[in-house]
Amino acid sequence: MLTVAQQIVGVAVLLTPARPRAARIYSLAVQADFRRRGYASQLLEQMVLLASKQGYRHLSLEVRQDDLQVQQFYQKHGFQTTKLLAGYYEDGADGVKMLRALAAANSKHLTPTLSNLRA
Ligand SMILES: CC(C)(COP(=O)(O)OP(=O)(O)OC[C@H]1O[C@@H](n2cnc3c(N)ncnc32)[C@H](O)[C@@H]1OP(=O)(O)O)[C@@H](O)C(=O)NCCC(=O)NCCS
Repeated sequence: MLTVAQQIVGVAVLLTPARPRAARIYSLAVQADFRRRGYASQLLEQMVLLASKQGYRHLSLEVRQDDLQVQQFYQKHGFQTTKLLAGYYEDGADGVKMLRALAAANSKHLTPTLSNLRA
């Protein structure tokens, strides 16, 4: 949760299933009046740090295939589209799965890799 002047402006929900599955972003949202100020980026980086510290090697999420703006946001933060999810949403819309490798929290030199995925 992100607050500005005691007002909740953003919320993030991170799911942490049993490893070796990927940690999963269940929700990330910023109030409309507060967007494009870097708040979602802050929340996302907190989730990256939290998942890395807990030993997760990958972070995943699902987004609507036609929502290119949100996909652009995640691409900017190192996520790649890995799978088409046909009819994923309740209204029948397709989704895409996006994935980002995480460096081990205690290693400054480890290069993240998308190989050996089990998301
Ligand atoms: C997606 C969302 C969380 C981004 O929040 P934000 O606080 O505006 O994001 P940030 O300010 O940290 O990052 C903005 C960057 O993301 C991308 N981006 C975000 N919204 C965008 C838009 N409407 N159009 C184009 N690019 C966009 C851009 O790269 C932008 O960088 P820029 O401002 O320098 O151009 C917010 O738009 C939102 O809450 N949307 C509704 C909920 C949702 O769809 N959540 C994602 C699914 S989990």
